[in-house]
Amino acid sequence: MEITLATGPAAQLEASALVTYAFEQEKPVEGALAELDKSIGGALGRLAEGKELTGKLLEMTLLHYPAGIKAERLLVVGAGKKEKFSAAELRKIAAAAARYLKGRSVRRLAFLAREDDRSAPGAEAIAEGLLLGEFEGDKYKSEKKDPAPGIDAAALAGWDGAARASGEQGLARGVALAGAQNFARDLGNEPSNRLTPKMLAERAEQMAREEHLEVEVLDEKKIADLKMGALLSVAQGSVEPPRVIVITYTPKKVAANAPVLGLVGKAVTFDTGGISIKPAANMEDMKFDMCGGAAMLGAMRAIAHLKPQIKVIAVITAAENMPGGRAQKPGDVQIAMSGKSIEVINTDAEGRMVLADGLHYAKQLGCTHLVDAATLTGAIVVALAGVHSGVFGSDEKFTEQVMAAARAAGEKMWHMPVEDEHREMIKSTIADIQNVGSGRGAGASTGAAFLREFTGDTPWVHLDIAGTAWITDAKPWSAKGATGVAVRTLAELAMHLR
Ligand code: BES
Ligand code: MN
Ligand code: ZN
Repeated sequence: MEITLATGPAAQLEASALVTYAFEQEKPVEGALAELDKSIGGALGRLAEGKELTGKLLEMTLLHYPAGIKAERLLVVGAGKKEKFSAAELRKIAAAAARYLKGRSVRRLAFLAREDDRSAPGAEAIAEGLLLGEFEGDKYKSEKKDPAPGIDAAALAGWDGAARASGEQGLARGVALAGAQNFARDLGNEPSNRLTPKMLAERAEQMAREEHLEVEVLDEKKIADLKMGALLSVAQGSVEPPRVIVITYTPKKVAANAPVLGLVGKAVTFDTGGISIKPAANMEDMKFDMCGGAAMLGAMRAIAHLKPQIKVIAVITAAENMPGGRAQKPGDVQIAMSGKSIEVINTDAEGRMVLADGLHYAKQLGCTHLVDAATLTGAIVVALAGVHSGVFGSDEKFTEQVMAAARAAGEKMWHMPVEDEHREMIKSTIADIQNVGSGRGAGASTGAAFLREFTGDTPWVHLDIAGTAWITDAKPWSAKGATGVAVRTLAELAMHLR
């Protein structure tokens, strides 16, 4: 979809559909909407009187061939209560409109922003919404539903005169961020036979080349030379060798003492659980166990476009967790790259193993701040469902910076505890630590405590995205499958960290 800024009044825009939105209030048709309604003879006002148009969030009111405007259709999306309205709702409205209209063979749309949204963040939210809503994870369907579905072009209306520059600016940001998020979603959706660690590394190299980012892929030999024993222990049960993907963004000018942000991603391309094998029900979802790594690749793609003023290094540790003949067994002791010994109580707690070496390596590469993203625990899904990602951190200030970035990006995240008591719960009798917590409680926190062991004094934040990395049912604003969660937050963080 090509998105541009429109010129001229909305009523004059040639499009298969003109989209705008109405708030849930006494009089849903007012302001710019009332103006538009005047051009079409007051149909919206009458629909509002009859309570058919109420402005309830995501309500769809579609008029065909309304006389008085050039567009073939007018779609008014409910925007909910004005007091509750933010960029997140605007993004959702645009996404829902794109999904609603693409099913109706609309190829060109125009989107009229309401008065308060004719800003850079407004244009950004709308562009993001349109692109995220249009995304479909159906690349392996040989017969697509429509003949050539999809929206080819969208024109954003409302940024006339002096507002034009901010519109262009927001639009460019939105296109960069949604493009990066969709890139992560596409990787997340790939089945494991079409995205092994090796293939993930190739996709990462291709992206890095296109975006002029520096990239290095460590193969199994280099990984062994570096003594990444924790990562290797997960990979050893599979015929697919592991990979470590390192992508570096360096700005033109870096201030002295500027932070170096490390983005460490769990990319388990399939998680059978290993010898501690998972039950069959829903095991297919474990193709999504590389979404943390995909989020970091997406964030780097966004960063290449947005050009923050700090250096950013992504370290993605990729492996397949399989119960092969050489697989590690419960009770085995592994030595991580850091030198710490780990008793593997459960081979299904493999994400923390691959991240242990990723975090240590990122520190060695000079990162002064670390963020990891991982589909780490079922426990975080119990705690937060699919609503929030869990945020764990070792440094109050840095954790708050990540939380602020999440708020700005409109991604729901919740601060969770990781304390010395959780560290006590991963003490091993025969090694330094064990890979699962003793007792049954606080599974997400003991997972975080394990990771913390490999971060030392470096400020670190862990994002547990096990509940938010994919959705099993389509939403009005999103296809089902990988969500690309954390991409926008991490890009935002890179822009503001200093
Ligand atoms: N990839 C899973 C976590 C997961 C579970 C993600 C469900 C999304 C949905 C992870 O590797 C895992 O298996 N974690 C175990 C850890 C346990 C053995 C300590 C878990 O949460 O059960
Ligand atoms: Mn697992
Ligand atoms: Zn896993």
